[in-house]
Amino acid sequence: MIYNSFTDTGLLKVLTFLKTHNTEYLSGQDLSDVLRISRVAVWKHIKKIQALGYTVESKQKKGYKLTANSELLLPWEITSGLETKTLGQQAYYLNSIDSTQNQALKMANDSKNDGVIIIAEKQTGGRGRSGRKWISPKGGIWFSIILHPKFDIANTTLFPIASSLALAYAIEKTCKISTELKWPNDLTIKGKKLAGMLVDASFESNKIENLVLGVGINFNVDVKKMEKILKKTSNYYGIASLNEQKNKIKAIKLVQSFLVELEKIYGLLNTNQTKEIISEWTKRSSTIGKKVEINTINGKIKGQAVKIDDDGGLLIKNKGKINKIIAGDIIHLSK
Ligand code: BTN
Repeated sequence: MIYNSFTDTGLLKVLTFLKTHNTEYLSGQDLSDVLRISRVAVWKHIKKIQALGYTVESKQKKGYKLTANSELLLPWEITSGLETKTLGQQAYYLNSIDSTQNQALKMANDSKNDGVIIIAEKQTGGRGRSGRKWISPKGGIWFSIILHPKFDIANTTLFPIASSLALAYAIEKTCKISTELKWPNDLTIKGKKLAGMLVDASFESNKIENLVLGVGINFNVDVKKMEKILKKTSNYYGIASLNEQKNKIKAIKLVQSFLVELEKIYGLLNTNQTKEIISEWTKRSSTIGKKVEINTINGKIKGQAVKIDDDGGLLIKNKGKINKIIAGDIIHLSK
């Protein structure tokens, strides 16, 4: 089932009315009169609203009352009160899909879809970096965002780094948790992977046509189960989940905050103010200063991670020589 944030359905009318009158019981007849829909339609929408995870109490002779919101990342919840200009202002939600990234790529060329976010409760064919699978059960936060950037093609490699910084900011603000940033764009807690990002870019005549940013956050996942599945895969270094931090975190608030932070950082990229991105990323980096190893097409490179360059490339020092790495998976060799 696919839902979006902008179709004016009867369901949204009923839900909005219940939300704005949640201190009282509303009879089916009143809802039908005010909203100008039949009583049968009201009843059907209430059933659907309940099925979407909202708690609607119903009492004989009194009617209906909304007592709790849904925990699902429903599109109208994402857009409600969202303080961005473009990002996330159009949202889609699916309870299951192969990959939100694949779905976003199908929609990415259309200029009307700039800023669209596509969220799924679970993915059956989630994609990770370097062609790996991304395990995406219920409980995680899995989404893709379509962007039609104004920034120069030279900033493309900095974009994933900037996006990981935006997520670190959002987690700091909404969850009061500090995360580490592992080059290029993993978020970790105590060295274990909490979130990953994937960017698919489309270029035309030396310009960026569109970018699709895929974000996977282990929000409320069974860490032991995931570690068991992923243990033998490449680039595995342990799994972290936000719910382990025993915080009452609302997934909606986290996604909204990420969209706000991403839009701000995206503005910095558009105006070429990249210094702040690099210095803030470096402050949170768990890679810089460490002994690292990376597999490249020319073989393994080992060395000390010195810093990231203006374009986000990682500079590694080995026997006095500096190597610049643009992409790849690194292993931290030192603590
Ligand atoms: C990584 O390998 O670290 C990147 C993982 C990116 C996963 C996200 S989940 C939402 C979106 N859809 C996908 O199929 N992949 C990305």
